[in-house]
Amino acid sequence: MKSYSAFAYVYDQLMEDVDYDEWTMYIEAIFKRYNINPLNIAELACGTGNVTNRLAKRGYNMIGVDIAEDMLYVASQKAKDLKIDVVYLNQDITDLLLPTHLDTILCICDGINYIIDEKNLFKVFQGVHNHLKENGLFIFDISSYYKLSQILGNHTYAENLEQVSYIWENYFNEEERICNLDLTLFIKEGDIYKKYEEDHIQRAYKEKEIIKMLKKVGFKKIESFDALNFLSPKETSERVYFVCQK
Ligand SMILES: C[S@@+](CC[C@H](N)C(=O)[O-])C[C@H]1O[C@@H](n2cnc3c(N)ncnc32)[C@H](O)[C@@H]1O
Repeated sequence: MKSYSAFAYVYDQLMEDVDYDEWTMYIEAIFKRYNINPLNIAELACGTGNVTNRLAKRGYNMIGVDIAEDMLYVASQKAKDLKIDVVYLNQDITDLLLPTHLDTILCICDGINYIIDEKNLFKVFQGVHNHLKENGLFIFDISSYYKLSQILGNHTYAENLEQVSYIWENYFNEEERICNLDLTLFIKEGDIYKKYEEDHIQRAYKEKEIIKMLKKVGFKKIESFDALNFLSPKETSERVYFVCQK
C-alpha cells in the first residue's frame, strides 16, 4: 500500500501540534554552534515542506527531496503561495542524486526511521556524504528506540477533528525492531467522510549503531542531542538529533 498519498492532503492538519518554527530555529542554532553560514541546503524526506519552505523564506537556497509525489505537490503549492523558489525533487533518498554539492543536508522528522534496511541506511549516509562540501553538515533526527518501542509500539491513538479523524494502530516487533503504523483516516469530502488506509513502517535504531555507520561513511565529527537542546540524549528521549560534519 502506498504511503503518504491521501495522507499528504491532511498531513499538516495532523501535525498541527508540531512547532515547525521552533524546529527551524533549532536548526539555525546548530549553524551558530558550528559557526557556519550555509547557503545551499537540501532537506531529505521533506514531506510537505514545513522546514524546507521556512528555511527558503529565511533566505537559504533550498532543495526538498521526497519519495511521495503527493507530499511534494502540497509542498510546492505552499511554496507558490509563499512566493518562494524551492527545487522539489521526487527521489528515493537511498539513491540520492542532487544537482550540486551542498553546505548542509537535513533529514527532519523520522525520514531515517523509514529506511528499514541497514544496508539502505548506509547508502543514504554515503549519498549524503558524497553530496556535501568539505566541512558541510548533515543534520537529522530519529524517533528513538524508546519512542517506537514504548510510546508508539502496541498503542492505539485516535483523534476526532472537523476535517479529518483518524485511528492510528501501532505494533512493535522487538526481534525485527520494526514498528508498523497502521493509519485509518476519515477525510471530509463534501457532506461525507471517506475512509482511507495507509500502512507506514519504521525501524527503531539505537544511537550507537547509527554513530558507527556514520563513522564508517567518513564523517569526522558526530554529535547527538536530545531534541531541541544541546544536552546528551536520555534513555527516555523521544527524538534524538545527530549533527555530523564532513
Ligand atoms: C513524517 S514525514 C516527515 C516530513 C517532513 N520532513 C516534516 O518534517 O514534516 C516522513 C517523510 O519521509 C518520506 N520518505 C519515506 N521514505 C523515503 C525515501 N526512501 N525516500 C524519500 N522520502 C522518503 C515520506 O514520503 C514522508 O514525506
